[in-house]
This record gives sequence, C-alpha cells and structure tokens, in this order.
Amino acid sequence: MAEVIIVSNEDEAGRIYADCAAQLIAAKPNCILGLATGSSPLAAYKALAAKVEADHIDVSQVRGFALDEYAGLDPKHPQSYRSTIDRTVVEPLGLNPELVHVPNGNLDTIATAGREYDAAIEAAGGVDMQILGIGTDGHIGFNEPGSSLASGTRIKTLTEQTRVDNARFFDNDINQVPTHCITQGIGTILKARQLVLLAFGAGKAEAVAATVEGGISSFCPASALQLHPHATVIVDEAAAARLQNRDYYKWAYDNKPAWQGI
Ligand code: F6R
Repeated sequence: MAEVIIVSNEDEAGRIYADCAAQLIAAKPNCILGLATGSSPLAAYKALAAKVEADHIDVSQVRGFALDEYAGLDPKHPQSYRSTIDRTVVEPLGLNPELVHVPNGNLDTIATAGREYDAAIEAAGGVDMQILGIGTDGHIGFNEPGSSLASGTRIKTLTEQTRVDNARFFDNDINQVPTHCITQGIGTILKARQLVLLAFGAGKAEAVAATVEGGISSFCPASALQLHPHATVIVDEAAAARLQNRDYYKWAYDNKPAWQGI
C-alpha cells in the first residue's frame, strides 16, 4: 500500500518532497527526477529550489523527464509544458536545461515520439523519483479514465473535465485548451523507482480515496499506484477527507521511526 502522509498545507508537503529529493541527489548526483506540471507540485519545486540554494547542493548533473505535453502547442507557448517546466523547475533549481526532457508534442513526429521517449528514459537508466499530481477524475500524467494500466508514452485525447480544469491556464477559455496530448503511460510511470503523489483541496478528495482505498481500475488511473512497491501520497486535510483509514495514516506517520525512511 502507498504511504499516506496528511499535512497541514502545501508548504509542509513541499518540504517533505524537498528533503527526499535532496537525499536522492546526495546519494546519486546524476539522478533522474520525474517532473509534473500543474499547481500541485509548485510548492515542492519551490522548497527544493530553496534547499538547493541554502545547502549549496550541486545539481549540475541532475536529469529530468517530464510526464506530458500538449499536442500541437508551440513549445515556446507560455502554457506549453516545455515552457512550464523551464519556468517552474529548470530555472529556479538551476538545472542544466539540456538534461531535462519533455515529450515532443510536434504533430509531424508525434506518431513515433512516445516510443522514442520511453526508449530515452530507459537508456538514461530510468526515473528515480517521479512527482505526480492527480486530476479530479483520477488521471495521472494525462492518462484519463479508461487508460491501460500497462500503457507506454503515447497520444491521448483529453476529457472535457480536464480541459475545463486546465482552462485557468488559458484565459479561462476552454477553446484555447488543446484537445490532445502526449503523455507517459501508466506502465511508464510505474517503472519509476519511487512515486510521490501530491494532492490538495476538497476537489481532489474523491479521486484520492479512489486511488488509495478503491479497487485497482483503469477507471481511476491513479489507483495503479497500489501496484507500486514505493509510492507515497502526500495530501492536505481537505484532500484526505474521504479516506476511511485517515486516523491510521496519521498515527503511522506521527509514530514513524527514523529507520523506516521515506
Ligand atoms: C501535469 C499532469 C497532470 C496534473 C493533474 C493535476 O503534468 O500530469 O496529471 O498533475 O492534472 O493538476 P493540478 O496539480 O494543476 O491540479
């Protein structure tokens, strides 16, 4: 089962992620961070950037692979995931942009881009720690409900719900939100050595409960985390509200011996 950590706010979640990532970088200076866009990981990236600066951590060899990209959106568009990752991760952390990869959403090459992306991750040695957000419909990456739990990186059609949710990044105009994307598959995500899923706010409560305590089903793609040997789910009280075993998760974390590790 995933470890569930219930925090009081996003900053606390960010500090837990940052400590974990810093330990990883210290142990493996050329580690591969799996990166996500959206609102959920922002506090985590901010906390890691602050730690990198305060502790003078050398990140010159750290590599990254992002989860997804919109199809057919110019990478220079401010809301492309290439631009977003540059703005929220590469620049604040001071990573080498050449070592940070985002799936290629160019329509001319998109038919083969997924397979090439998976091959590149594999050739690099695999993702060490993948950060994930979760959609209100339970998606991870852009694997919408019904996505194969064994899927590799490929083209997907976004649901209307996801386009409504993401319209806030496009002047609140759903018509500007692309209809298709290229996303790491659930099978790709499960190959990462550690998964850290972050979810905040009441809007995520149902999806979080289905992920952690529901049956494993492609209808809730994030429920595939139950198949992973090292998955951590960090949520605030609002996102934890529908979890039946909330008290147990709290007790386990509050009484966690140092030797148990993250
Ligand atoms: C983003 C991604 C998506 C988001 C999810 C939640 O790269 O893969 O799965 O993590 O849509 O988005 P936020 O965090 O904005 O609520």
